[in-house]
Amino acid sequence: MAASRGRPRRIAVLASSRGSNLQALLDAIVSNRLDGEIVGVFSDKPAAPALQRVPEMLRWSRDAKSYARRGDFDRELGDAVAACSPDWVVCAGYLRILGDAFVERFRGRLLNIHPSLLPKYRGLRTHARALEAGDQEHGTSVHFVIPELDAGAVIAQARVPVHADDSPETLAARVLAREHPLLVAVMRLAVAGRLTECGTTVAVDGHTLFTPLHLDCAGDLVHPAGAE
Ligand code: GRF
Repeated sequence: MAASRGRPRRIAVLASSRGSNLQALLDAIVSNRLDGEIVGVFSDKPAAPALQRVPEMLRWSRDAKSYARRGDFDRELGDAVAACSPDWVVCAGYLRILGDAFVERFRGRLLNIHPSLLPKYRGLRTHARALEAGDQEHGTSVHFVIPELDAGAVIAQARVPVHADDSPETLAARVLAREHPLLVAVMRLAVAGRLTECGTTVAVDGHTLFTPLHLDCAGDLVHPAGAE
């Protein structure tokens, strides 16, 4: 499945906005906490601040709204992503739904970070929905992407408490602070060749995960209590 020989360390990132998750990966690479390489940043929004976080030669963007057909944009995006031979394609704040053809093209090496404890709150407004539901706990998930939105096998999650006086914004900030180490930790597994999508489940080191891994306070991924 890996597109390059040796360790699967070539990472393409899809991002539509701020790019703080991309920055977390860049920082982890620079500080030798992640043995990977960002080989391209791709956006459906040419003005996305995320693009500015990498040198110009690594940026690709097109205004998705200027395409008459969704499939045409996805095909161009897919060709551009494939041209940089990524081992992993990471949606990090990519706010556009990927068409089935794109997903199938990169299936097995296509990951997404989503701000909820999946399967809760697929789609948008996750923080507001957690508050409306009166949840005491919220969080973030990294999962393999499949054609159905936010429904692929979950690799790992990080949990945060919900406070009584939280607004969607304060809750989002608490979750975001855990998204960054979660994404780095999952990508450490990915570039080490330890992570595989097996149908509807995930395998780490060849062993099926029956529940998602959990990010502990030290930033390590552990099996949740009672799941080993
Ligand atoms: C993150 O909360 C991510 O989970 C969601 O969009 C947000 C993007 O943040 N999909 P950033 O662009 O990485 O700062």
